[in-house]
Amino acid sequence: MQADIIVVAAGKGERMGRELPKPFLPVGGIPLLIHTLRAITQSTLVATITLVVAPEREELCRDLLRLHGQFRVPLAVVHGGAERQDSVRLGLAALGPTSEIVAIHDAARPFLDREILDRSIETAAIHGGALVAVPARDTIKRVGEEGTVVETIPRQQLWLAQTPQTFRVSLIREAHAQALAEGVVVTDDAALLERLGKVVKIVQGSYRNFKITTPEDLRVAEALLRAG
Ligand code: C5P
Repeated sequence: MQADIIVVAAGKGERMGRELPKPFLPVGGIPLLIHTLRAITQSTLVATITLVVAPEREELCRDLLRLHGQFRVPLAVVHGGAERQDSVRLGLAALGPTSEIVAIHDAARPFLDREILDRSIETAAIHGGALVAVPARDTIKRVGEEGTVVETIPRQQLWLAQTPQTFRVSLIREAHAQALAEGVVVTDDAALLERLGKVVKIVQGSYRNFKITTPEDLRVAEALLRAG
């Protein structure tokens, strides 16, 4: 069984405070996006890649792929939308008609292990939905508007959602269509299945698979790359 991968790279990356969005920023001299694509193509379960980019970055993206992109799987570039959820929906619409399993991954997570991606694909094939996540290491508080703690949430039940999030294509397409029709906007795809009462199984991820968001994250990524 193989899966198609959607890599979302159409964000503006405003928290990074740089002109270029984060997938295009260099880490160890190579754009973040290229690191991510290389990590994904380590897996033999990956059939195709659909790369979702902002229309104004398509040319830059194609230049980078020409320069760095020797990937063993077919790669299509499509345009994203205003919100991450729009970008994913547009990526889903671009999948081939025979696609059965799709893994959705943030371009801003370059440290994805092949083994975790494979487990998420295998889990989605069995259960319909698979979410890569890690247990919360810190205690998490709910805080009110005045900056006062409202409650402490038992940590044993808390997991931090990462990507890939992997699904049966029919299920995630239906979940996105319903969300669009009802005007629901969420920050990850698994939440769209959850609201339909569908099963989403946890696949334990790794803390290395963090999302590069701030300038400090970029420095951590550089250090991790140097350390191998
Ligand atoms: O903004 P955030 O860090 O949540 O973005 C996660 C991933 O989603 C990034 O790789 C970003 O490029 C992508 N994204 C997108 N389209 C958007 C917003 C975010 O493809 N409109």
